[in-house]
Amino acid sequence: ENPEYVAQFNARIDAGGFIEPKDWMPEAYRRTLVRQISQHAHSEIVGMLPEGNWITRAPSLKRKAILLAKVQDEGGHGLYLYAAAETLGVSRDELYEALLSGKAKYSSIFNYPTLTWADIGVVGWLVDGAAIMNQIPLCKCSYGPYARAMIRVCKEESFHQRQGFDLLLTMMKGTAEQREMVQDAVNRWWWPSIMMFGPHDHDSVHTETARWGIKRISNDDLRQKFVDATVKQAEVLGVTLPDPALKWNAERGHHDFGTIDWDEFWNVVGGHGQCNVDRLAERKRAWEEGAWVREAALAYAEKQAAREQR
Ligand code: 3HC
Repeated sequence: ENPEYVAQFNARIDAGGFIEPKDWMPEAYRRTLVRQISQHAHSEIVGMLPEGNWITRAPSLKRKAILLAKVQDEGGHGLYLYAAAETLGVSRDELYEALLSGKAKYSSIFNYPTLTWADIGVVGWLVDGAAIMNQIPLCKCSYGPYARAMIRVCKEESFHQRQGFDLLLTMMKGTAEQREMVQDAVNRWWWPSIMMFGPHDHDSVHTETARWGIKRISNDDLRQKFVDATVKQAEVLGVTLPDPALKWNAERGHHDFGTIDWDEFWNVVGGHGQCNVDRLAERKRAWEEGAWVREAALAYAEKQAAREQR
């Protein structure tokens, strides 16, 4: 690589500037962005499935409408992110093939089942809450199209988290059975939610993402921020977080918490979680059943282009 280009690129990054699609960039920068942005997009569209499962079962028209809007938003987030990845010279088909073949990853969190209606509230509250923590720093990521996609995503994410919290608050004011349902969901989703932030920093292999201004805050620091913010919210809700080691450490100014089960994490990331097979099968089915829509859209676009050339 031309040392002058590398120096200019690093200077732009160090000055907190954005790299745009037409700018020169190291091949490794492009590759790690394709990896992260496409896996982020995969996470969004696989993430539609756990909640989609409850759209027909929502307890009221209001909750159904809210959930429908949220799942639709996630599909849109996937679209922005696939479009951002395509600016790096990869095609949608290649990205999709990587997901459906199992080559590409998506967030571990979406491999857990949504067993009750309370899960829908907990997913909004904890999963979207963790996603917000992780996505806000990405609004300042050095790659322009990714940062800009994140600004729109973060605005919608805050609605996602608030509707989840509101759903749980309603249930916690309900019957004892509803309160137990919420606590049971919190018990199942708490640890997988803090796993969303990835391995401990000392096990985090992609150090290039920090050096190149993609990962602005480390996995462990974001996880800690999330734990600190969520403990108070859990108190307001009246639920307990399933971690006996969770307690305020005045010296650190943060909450200490227990040890994450990394075997569980890598087992799920490796494709052996409770729902990995179902989630991919569902995405595969959607891809195959949606082929006619893609063909029709492409045929229409070609007709339009031919018409414009006349
Ligand atoms: N699930 C699956 N794989 C994970 C993971 C998780 N929770 N955490 C880490 N990994 C993978 C990484 O992708 C990497 O594997 P790869 O080389 O095959 O990509 C490996 O584990 C090592 O982890 P690293 O920490 O070295 O990897 P990163 O530096 O990429 O950090 C990350 C991982 C923090 C997830 C980072 O990729 C990131 O910030 N991604 C963008 C945000 C994102 O994808 N969030 C996922 C949820 S999206 C969402 O929640 C949608 C919302 O609407 C609900």
